[in-house]
Amino acid sequence: MHQIKKIGILTSGGDSPGMNACIRAAVRNALFNQLEVVGILEGFNGMIHNKFKKLQARDVSNILQRGGTILRSARSKEFMTKEGRLKAFENIKSRGIDALVIIGGNGSFLGAKIFDEEFGIPYIGLPGTIDNDLYGTDYTIGFDTACNTVVDAVDKIKDTAASHNRLFFIEVMGRDSGYIALNTGIATGAEEILLPERPTDVHALIEKLSEGKKHKKNSSIVIVSEGDDGGGAIAIAAQVNKHFQQYDTRVTVLGHLQRGGVPTASDRVSASRMGHAAIEALLNHKSAIMVGILNGKISHVPIKDAIEKKKKLNPHLFEIKDALSI
Ligand code: F6P
Repeated sequence: MHQIKKIGILTSGGDSPGMNACIRAAVRNALFNQLEVVGILEGFNGMIHNKFKKLQARDVSNILQRGGTILRSARSKEFMTKEGRLKAFENIKSRGIDALVIIGGNGSFLGAKIFDEEFGIPYIGLPGTIDNDLYGTDYTIGFDTACNTVVDAVDKIKDTAASHNRLFFIEVMGRDSGYIALNTGIATGAEEILLPERPTDVHALIEKLSEGKKHKKNSSIVIVSEGDDGGGAIAIAAQVNKHFQQYDTRVTVLGHLQRGGVPTASDRVSASRMGHAAIEALLNHKSAIMVGILNGKISHVPIKDAIEKKKKLNPHLFEIKDALSI
């Protein structure tokens, strides 16, 4: 790999709180090491449509505490075409960009991998998604903030649930990963947690809710991951209602509010560490890896593994949920 002089940085896929902290850290560490930095706006679309912006230290001032991404984001359909990628390559070459830092999830990493295989552009992926679904890192940027947002919402719903003797089904994001559901289910003391990783058994769920009633519960919370095989909170609530009428039932789909907001201190610190480490990795001639944090230390994961390997849920959290919700 020849010596890198100018890097391009972009955010791609669903935005997540902490992406700005990550951009700031990568930009500042690059400048600290005398590299030039170009911000690429709107993800891979920006490479195709020439949306570039030179970034200096002051351009990333006061963004650490802001949700969203100052570079904006997109899920680029054009970048999935060979023609789109060729345009992107011509544009970054004409600007003298010789390496990329890509903050995003699985789909973004796959795009970067194909681009590198076709045009030989060194890149580092950084895990930016609330879903925490990437192999090789304990946390992804935004997961902690999203979990805190969910916990705050469920705590509020519990006040009204208890006042009205109600059963609430609360749907959380996560695509096909149950990380947000499992962690927030434990953190809010949910009666049941339904995840894509485990088949949903409506009869077992009704049994559990009946047991709760017998043990004098006057309200219950079920956290449902959007990717659950039961079809989501609305569908599952309807099925439960058919056979179990001991509660008045309500459904809340939390949706995109989980993606916004002020990043937690934990997300800011992880994002800053990873953003900094991405530049170190490029300076050490690394490419085609995701930089994450594993057991408290910076990890380097081959991008192929980050994309293809399935991250396992913490089995301990699943084991303890039944005992904690009697
Ligand atoms: O990957 C992040 C995420 O928020 C998922 O949890 C969710 O399934 C998806 O993105 C929603 O995508 P969009 O913002 O395109 O509707």
